[in-house]
Amino acid sequence: MKTYSIALIPGDGIGKDVTAAAWTVLEAAAKGAGLALKATEFPWSCRFYKETGAMMPADGIVSLKGFDAILLGAVGWPAQVPDSVSLHGLLLPIRKAFVQYANIRPHRLLPGVQGPLKTDTFDILCIRENTEGEYSGAGGRVHQGTEDEVAVETSIFTRSGVERILRFGFEQARTRRRKLASVTKSNAQKYSMVFWDEITQELAAEYPDVEVTSYHIDAMAARMVMSPESLDVVVASNLFGDILTDLGAAIQGGLGFAASANINSDRTLPSMFEPVHGSAPDIAHLGIANPIATIWSSAMMLDHLGEKETAGRIMRAIEETTARGIGAVPGRDRTEAITAAVLSALS
Ligand code: NAD
Ligand code: IPM
Ligand code: MN
Repeated sequence: MKTYSIALIPGDGIGKDVTAAAWTVLEAAAKGAGLALKATEFPWSCRFYKETGAMMPADGIVSLKGFDAILLGAVGWPAQVPDSVSLHGLLLPIRKAFVQYANIRPHRLLPGVQGPLKTDTFDILCIRENTEGEYSGAGGRVHQGTEDEVAVETSIFTRSGVERILRFGFEQARTRRRKLASVTKSNAQKYSMVFWDEITQELAAEYPDVEVTSYHIDAMAARMVMSPESLDVVVASNLFGDILTDLGAAIQGGLGFAASANINSDRTLPSMFEPVHGSAPDIAHLGIANPIATIWSSAMMLDHLGEKETAGRIMRAIEETTARGIGAVPGRDRTEAITAAVLSALS
């Protein structure tokens, strides 16, 4: 029997509920397909930080190394631990250490879900650069607490980093509608973003079958609302991609529907799958978190592992569930009820 070992990091808040839901669905789907999924759970979270002084142990990254994939819920409990500490102590180091440079975030309406827009025909694949750019963590503060204080946060863009994310986007476009939108702010940011635009043009010559358009991030934000059906693959830097994908989540009906995959093309290191949303402290412990984003992310995990048929079965079960109206309206159905409906659609 084919066996996959999965590192499960539920994290904080609703992260625990949505990963538990997704794991139940994964187990049921695997059973029907003759696959064995073995979960090893890591309690790394803000609670773990309060108990140990670190978000994960010093050898945390090493202990994740041998897994086939990582399934993560959400990290962050700002009332107890500053986000700058929790995210730089757990989520962001995993993305970096395992060179998960491509963060794939699909935005489309599931059947039965009413989005806020007039159109329902869009199908956008956002590809966010995930290891450098504005998230490089380079910078500092001087004259802290004085009137002369200065804070610097430097974005670092490397030719290899920009090239590989754009190439990833071009390749994805080839499997879809062959349209690539490259997003920058090169009218204001004259070094990094002009550099990005130049590399886009260089690569465009290698992909003559893909229609390439460069957009400014502000115009792209408006386009995603006004004419999302005009977009296919959208490639953006780390921060711009972060912002655009919460916007993408909004047009697909809410954060409870937005899935993501942090992909490493080196199959010897694990990729990580997680919803786009965070720990949602405002609804934690209420049992009303929508698990669909995480279940969808689990399907992306199986797809990445090569289990395309089982991944497809999970997607169809999600679609059948929302088509019946279950989980389709934010806040209406309980996590458990949505999970049960997906499970029954699977069988
Ligand atoms: P959030 O995504 O947690 O919540 C934003 C809003 O969306 C809230 O009103 C929340 O109730 C709602 N929401 C989110 N997921 C939902 C779901 N599955 N079902 C129903 N409603 C849902 O964003 P935030 O409030 O800015 O962040 C909370 C914490 O999570 C912070 O510590 C933040 O840094 C962290 N965060 C972590 C991740 C991650 O681990 N990948 C992602 C985003 C935010
Ligand atoms: C996301 C999150 C993270 C990010 C935060 C929590 C650091 O917003 O996965 O979209 O910005 O990457
Ligand atoms: Mn985000």
